[in-house]
Amino acid sequence: MSLAFIDLAAQQSRIRPALDRAIAQILDEGKYIMGPQVGELEKKLAEFCGATHCLSCANGTDALQLALMALGIKAGDAVFVPSFTFAATAEVVPLVGATPVFVDVLPDTFNMDPESLKRAIVHARDIGLNPAVVIPVDLFGLPADYDVLIAIARENGMKVIGDSAQGWGGVYHGRVTGSLCDISTTSFFPAKPLGCYGDGGALFTDDAELAALVDSFRVHGKGKHKYYNERIGLNSRLDTLQAAILIEKLAIYADEIEARQIVAGRYTDGFSGQYETPHVPEGLTSIWAQYTLKMKDTAEREALQARASAAKVPTVVYYPVPLHRQTAYSAFPADPAGLTVSDDLAGRVVSLPMHPYLGTQDQDRIIAAVIG
Ligand SMILES: Cc1ncc(COP(=O)(O)O)c(C=O)c1O
Repeated sequence: MSLAFIDLAAQQSRIRPALDRAIAQILDEGKYIMGPQVGELEKKLAEFCGATHCLSCANGTDALQLALMALGIKAGDAVFVPSFTFAATAEVVPLVGATPVFVDVLPDTFNMDPESLKRAIVHARDIGLNPAVVIPVDLFGLPADYDVLIAIARENGMKVIGDSAQGWGGVYHGRVTGSLCDISTTSFFPAKPLGCYGDGGALFTDDAELAALVDSFRVHGKGKHKYYNERIGLNSRLDTLQAAILIEKLAIYADEIEARQIVAGRYTDGFSGQYETPHVPEGLTSIWAQYTLKMKDTAEREALQARASAAKVPTVVYYPVPLHRQTAYSAFPADPAGLTVSDDLAGRVVSLPMHPYLGTQDQDRIIAAVIG
């Protein structure tokens, strides 16, 4: 029998009665847009990560765009993003008229490389851009090195947006992602560690003025009244139904994060010595959006994928082409020293099935198929 890469059905059966009740309540009440569940969820999300304000929105990409809009990012501004990430991190930058500048990642954590960031900032200034924002990404669930990256941003008068779409709820030296940056964002895409049953996203900030701006931008730039338009905005709200679903999922999220640690720990025990397993620096907790091995080369990866596929174990390559090599992004500036680690990782990494409901028998089957 084929295994699921991410088994959402197992989670659903655990909370199905609560979901049915929550959905039925909304059908009874009929408040489909900005119903009371939206505010309740925002309060609970803010409490979970320790941020002062949470504002939900339509998806994680909009969350990033709304963050840039609230910070007033515009043409001539440089926004520093890793190349080894999902396209949304960079996509929103030209959408607000600014220029993405690609930064390399570290070979062990796959997260933004501070030295590459420094080179990219100098380069951006050399070509006449104004360094404005850094967007570290918590790739595969592991928090980026925020203290170091925020210090570089501050030295250069920049703001920081944490893209925690894959890592919201991870721990960075005692603090939870979502509470570490000027603004942090996340995605509730169904396959994300905290996902809903459609699209959804959220922003977090401790700054009341930024929170008020995001609240305006997410509803057509509304003023005190929804038919007073003070700025050009978006239509980017989280549906009440999705909020109600997320309230039930958030209630078991801490428990699921624990369960992910156990799966990751067993994988690492199973693969150590044979493959390069994920590195989690001291003081950090990954939420394991992905469990990703680093092969020696592409040939070794292809052999592993073929073996796994024959044993009906799915594997996925996140990401086969770094953004600075993509047709849509290759003309944008990058660290002039080159993005050698991003290029290298794209040819060698492979991700295995990962979710909190992966039982020990299935884990053993996966480990056996991967080792061969
Ligand atoms: C790192 C990263 N940023 C942003 C996003 C965008 O989120 P969404 O798909 O909800 O727009 C995703 C996920 O899709 C992501 O993985």
